[in-house]
Amino acid sequence: MDKPIIIDAWQGKKTDVTPIWLMRQAGRYLPEYREIRAQAGSFLDLCHNPDLAMEVTLQPLRRFDLDAAIIFSDILVIPQAMGQNLSFAEGEGPKLAKVDFKTLKSDDDLFELNLQGIYTVIEHTRAHLPIDKALIGFAGGPFTLACYMIDGGAVDGFPKTHAMMQDDASGFAALMEKLTYGVIRHLKAQIAAGCDAVQVFESHAGQLAGVDFATHIVRPMRAIAQAIGGEVPVIGFARGAAQDDLLRYAVDTGIDVAGIDQHTDIAWAADNIPPRVVLQGNLDPVLLREGNEAMDRAIRRILDVTKTRAFVFNLGHGVIKDTDPAHVARLVETVHEWRP
Ligand code: CP3
Repeated sequence: MDKPIIIDAWQGKKTDVTPIWLMRQAGRYLPEYREIRAQAGSFLDLCHNPDLAMEVTLQPLRRFDLDAAIIFSDILVIPQAMGQNLSFAEGEGPKLAKVDFKTLKSDDDLFELNLQGIYTVIEHTRAHLPIDKALIGFAGGPFTLACYMIDGGAVDGFPKTHAMMQDDASGFAALMEKLTYGVIRHLKAQIAAGCDAVQVFESHAGQLAGVDFATHIVRPMRAIAQAIGGEVPVIGFARGAAQDDLLRYAVDTGIDVAGIDQHTDIAWAADNIPPRVVLQGNLDPVLLREGNEAMDRAIRRILDVTKTRAFVFNLGHGVIKDTDPAHVARLVETVHEWRP
């Protein structure tokens, strides 16, 4: 009982106990996070402070019997490392400054130098983490990064991104290529530093469908999975994808694990996604925040419909900031105690 059971599950083995981790398991719903965050000053200062970033990575595992830690960072450190100015205005989310994408650095050494702090956090965290817990590294998916970079932040519908795809297809393709390469470099460096698995957050995959989805979501994800080459399990999370797109994403990219959001019926995923692709998901974060009987019923249904295959429990998206930590404790216990 030393190797994390979650690694068995990610590798396709059906485990006796269902492993669980949660997207945004470190964050503002934890009072101890808010304390460290206040100490750090800004969110970005926290991301780039190795001691404090390790501390907030470990916080949720001190409270809850989670099976993995996810390194505390952000998907937008890639555009930042490439030279696009990033800031977080309090309560407004991320802001990326207007920049000529042609001027963005793709110089390898410079890129990795700018992200070195994250690799240091990974090395230190892996050394502090019990051996039966896994450490997850991550990056944003190239399309999701492009959305934030082109629209300058979380703009509803990402109109500038859609316009650039139409009006400057070659400029868009060049940016996507640079980003795909950057994502690969960043994930490989995180693996070299000690991560046991990596997740690609393609949080705005639902902006695209059909041919556009195949070109800008499936194709880059295939390049990323191929570059990782089976070194560690690769988790792909194409949030908001339509069922047929999600199916292609799961089977055509070579990912080991498909993250399922709460708008996809997990029973559909269990029936249609081949068992060689491990499922991970998909409790609605709103049910976790409410924390009543509807949550318990939803947890049991997810476990029941996935019981014949390798499975990792998660939310369909991140923990909402006004969630009571007691609800998280009950979720983790319920999942671990459940038997078919
Ligand atoms: O999951 C984890 O616990 C690890 C850390 C993590 C964060 N962001 C910390 C964070 C991860 C994996 C992310 C990924 C991320 N960041 C995504 C993909 C996942 C998703 O949510 O769809 C995206 C789109 C971002 C970009 C981003 N970062 C936004 C839109 C925001 C603002 C959101 C908000 O709630 O204000 C952030 C900030 C951010 N990233 C916070 C945290 C804990 C809140 C910062 C704070 O302390 O004020």
